Amino acid sequence: MASNDNHVLLFLSFSFLSLLQINSCMAQNVKGGYWFPDSGINASDIDSTLFTHLFCAFADLDASTNQVVISRSKARSFAAFTSDVQQKNPSVVTLLSIGGGGNGSIADDFASIASQPSSRKTFINSSIALARSNGFHGLDLDWQYPETDEKMANLGFLLHEWRAAVVAESASSGKDALLLSAAVYYTPHMSSTDYPVATMAASLDWINAMAYDFYGNWSSTTGPLAALYNPGNNVSGDDGVSAWIQANMPAEKIVLGFPFFGRAFTLTDAKNHGYFAPFTGVAISPDGSIKYNWITTYISQNSVTTVHDSKFGSAYCYSGTTWISYDDTQTISTKVAYARERGLKGYYAWHVAGDDNWILSQTAREASEDQQHKRWFRRWFWLVMLISIAIVILFIFGLIYYLRRRTLQSEGILGVIKGFNRRFKAMVHKVESPESSASNLQTFRYATLRAATNNFSSENKLGEGGFGPVYKGKLPTGQDIAVKRLSKTSNQGLEEFKNEVVLTAGLQHVNLARLLGFCTDREEKMLIYEYMPNGSLDFYLFDPTRKYLLDWEKRVQIIEGITQGLLYLQEYSNFTIIHRDLKASNVLLDKDMKPKISDFGMARIFRKGDLEANTGRIVGTL
Ligand SMILES: *[C@@H]1O[C@H](CO)[C@@H](O)[C@H](O)[C@H]1NC(C)=O
Ligand SMILES: *[C@@H]1O[C@H](CO)[C@@H](O)[C@H](O)[C@H]1NC(C)=O
Ligand SMILES: *[C@@H]1O[C@H](CO)[C@@H](O)[C@H](O)[C@H]1NC(C)=O
Ligand SMILES: *[C@@H]1O[C@H](CO)[C@@H](O)[C@H](O)[C@H]1NC(C)=O
Ligand SMILES: *[C@@H]1O[C@H](CO)[C@@H](O)[C@H](O)[C@H]1NC(C)=O
Repeated sequence: MASNDNHVLLFLSFSFLSLLQINSCMAQNVKGGYWFPDSGINASDIDSTLFTHLFCAFADLDASTNQVVISRSKARSFAAFTSDVQQKNPSVVTLLSIGGGGNGSIADDFASIASQPSSRKTFINSSIALARSNGFHGLDLDWQYPETDEKMANLGFLLHEWRAAVVAESASSGKDALLLSAAVYYTPHMSSTDYPVATMAASLDWINAMAYDFYGNWSSTTGPLAALYNPGNNVSGDDGVSAWIQANMPAEKIVLGFPFFGRAFTLTDAKNHGYFAPFTGVAISPDGSIKYNWITTYISQNSVTTVHDSKFGSAYCYSGTTWISYDDTQTISTKVAYARERGLKGYYAWHVAGDDNWILSQTAREASEDQQHKRWFRRWFWLVMLISIAIVILFIFGLIYYLRRRTLQSEGILGVIKGFNRRFKAMVHKVESPESSASNLQTFRYATLRAATNNFSSENKLGEGGFGPVYKGKLPTGQDIAVKRLSKTSNQGLEEFKNEVVLTAGLQHVNLARLLGFCTDREEKMLIYEYMPNGSLDFYLFDPTRKYLLDWEKRVQIIEGITQGLLYLQEYSNFTIIHRDLKASNVLLDKDMKPKISDFGMARIFRKGDLEANTGRIVGTL
């Protein structure tokens, strides 16, 4: 019993702790954004309350020394970045991002540095030193892109060694290990090579999947800048995320990127303005890129048609031949929900200054919190359910424990239930038995009867009754008893057993065998009678020598007794009972040779005045 309670408690504590743990994992989700100098706002103007992680972009590579460096023009703003953004949100986490898109020479520098163990070591050492000296919490690698198998392999070496160095530095400095992330292509599959996914998953805290601009040469392709869904076309954020997960990048290490900018084109024909419409070139800026807040200004100042295309999970607007693909607030909400549904680590925006009135960032955070609240609600709902179920279980155990204390009958739950069952049966019996005297009946434990009958030994066997063997027994009190044991295989016997208990229990007459009690322990069904030392009438009547023991005086006495018994059964009890199986072997003789009718297995009961049996064979329920 006590151990059962302990199990319940253990189970509860475990469930509770795992719920808490899930909640604390969720707290690490990324609501990220990149910032770079001259992007339009200073770091101190970022509404950092809308973010959990901010990336400061970019530290540069010095190809001559293989070191990560912060150029003189950025030095002051980078050094102040963390304290600037933590003014509004002290818990915001900052990462120094290295490399970036820029021009091809950055990718070449990455390739060269990653190719040699010594240059990798210098790169890694300088990156850690730079992050620490400038107060960053982590480092972000932005190599766009390693385009050959060899470069991908070297990227793997670099990340692996980076992780080892970060762990070692944390151990020797006693500070929290720096976070490591990498901005990567939207899918692990480049045109002629694949990312080293296993090494990345093992070495990085997460990847920032650049799920935008995936058409590569945007100056030759219109279409959704950052489609989330793209039916019939395998270029979309969802395709990329699925491919990463399929390549065994854990979903909880993927952060989905979306743009706080759009791309503008000049349409060939103002009337043909859907996705993939022909165009003559990029518009508005040299590369067609436009910050989101510029698009909203443009829309408010021109007569513009805006289209949210739910098929692509993306938006565009046009005015004349100017056509702009971008992510609107609806797109951002959809993407945040998507990231949650796929179990991703979160989202990030490139770049925060694109949204300097913070509409998109707010939308993203609200969508994220909305989802989070829903999940929390679900968790708490389950927690409350769990606790309620536990209370019910404890209540039931308590009840059983209480009942068991009252009976002190048997060991184990089974015994308790049986005990309960027995009491219940007795209750039913009391209500339904002819004379409501079941309470006179004693319940016997199997063990008691086994001891009394010397383990039902053949020496104790008195004979074979209607439904099984009958044994002689002696109770610890010294009282002699006869035990009728229902053979387990007998179905017929079970009916008769019930019949007998129900009928005999209510009957009391000197000429009826008195039922003392019964036993229903352990599948056993037994009836316990007072013991008749002189056996049954047939024992004398049909025995050549013993029949002389019955003189006529005794025979008359016996006949009278049987008649009295029958009279009682049929006339003077509350019911009319027909024995239906009266024979010499069912007439027992007590020590004074007085007869007692026994074996009511076949008897039927009638209401007074009824001419036909209106009850079945079974008249009560046990
Ligand atoms: C950024 O800060 C500098 C110096 O405090 C200031 O001169 C400049 O105007 C600020 N830029 C923006 C966009 O607010
Ligand atoms: C590429 O960028 C680097 C600095 O990041 C600059 O020195 C170099 O001139 C640029 N090259 C081209 C071809 O624009
Ligand atoms: C970088 O290298 C220098 C010189 O070898 C060493 O003193 C320093 O501890 C290293 N720093 C890290 C972060 O490994
Ligand atoms: C991009 O497309 C334009 C127009 O088709 C073409 O001139 C240019 O060479 C392409 N650039 C790349 C890198 O493929
Ligand atoms: C989609 O993938 C197939 C190969 O699986 C490729 O041939 C096709 O060019 C891809 N479509 C696009 C739009 O990239």
